[in-house]
Amino acid sequence: MNPVLALYRSTIGKKVAMAVSGVVYVGWVLFHMVGNLNFHLGADAINSYAHKLQDLPPLVWGGRTFLLLALVVHVASAISLIRQNAAARGTNYKGPKKSFATTSAAKSMKYGGIALLLFIIWHILDFTVGLFGPVHSVFNLYDYASYGFIRGEVYHDMLLSFGNPVSALIYIVATVFLSLHLFHGAWSAVQTLGFESANTRGIWRSIAAFVAGLVLVGNLSYPVMGIVGTATGALEAPPTWEYCGYYDSCPANVTPAKSDAH
Ligand code: HEM
Repeated sequence: MNPVLALYRSTIGKKVAMAVSGVVYVGWVLFHMVGNLNFHLGADAINSYAHKLQDLPPLVWGGRTFLLLALVVHVASAISLIRQNAAARGTNYKGPKKSFATTSAAKSMKYGGIALLLFIIWHILDFTVGLFGPVHSVFNLYDYASYGFIRGEVYHDMLLSFGNPVSALIYIVATVFLSLHLFHGAWSAVQTLGFESANTRGIWRSIAAFVAGLVLVGNLSYPVMGIVGTATGALEAPPTWEYCGYYDSCPANVTPAKSDAH
């Protein structure tokens, strides 16, 4: 048998596959969060940041393929390890009793992981496909919600989504799940990959807590600022529509200020 496949079939192989694909996601989440900080600098900053990325199709499609692959590996190994554990519990194995902390952490990883998977699907349909634009338009605190989803107008699309309190709440809850998952997951990855020792345990735990805390604060800031800004009018400055028409998606009732500005 292929040695890579043989390794993957073993329990340790699956744990390593989970750890490595998880680390890929930690990298992506940090990169994505830092890029999204442009939201706080205003429409032009986040829109031109998004356009710069979108104008590099090999990077976009390479990144999408890589992330999808990492997600498939992560989820497939998780399912396989959960099944293996369930099968082991079904036997008469009289091993040491698992502590409450171990089993509750494992359960939170399982259910938190399912919630995050659903969130990723929701999030891509929301911001990449724009599927929920018509729903967001109906119940929204944002003045320009009636324009619906506009591809390329990322700032507008973020206010459209977060101006819908239900959608903002979904992002807030998902961010809490993500931070918990990341904290437990990063900690397990360190153990699986053999970086942990009695001397470094405290340092690794602090790093995991710091990264999870950073992701919590950063990713909460978008829906919280979005909902507060649309509710109070603080972020209500009309969009410049500077890039309106960037992806031929200018709403019929808007005259682009500079439709040729790319
Ligand atoms: C509150 C936090 C988040 C905000 C405000 C946010 C915002 C966005 C926006 C605006 C886009 C579309 C960009 C564009 O059209 O150019 C996007 C795409 C995406 N986001 Fe997020 N995101 C957040 C959290 C996350 C998390 C936690 C994950 C995954 C773990 C994630 C994964 C993705 C992916 C995979 C895409 C699709 C990229 C593509 O078009 O292929 N996001 N996000």
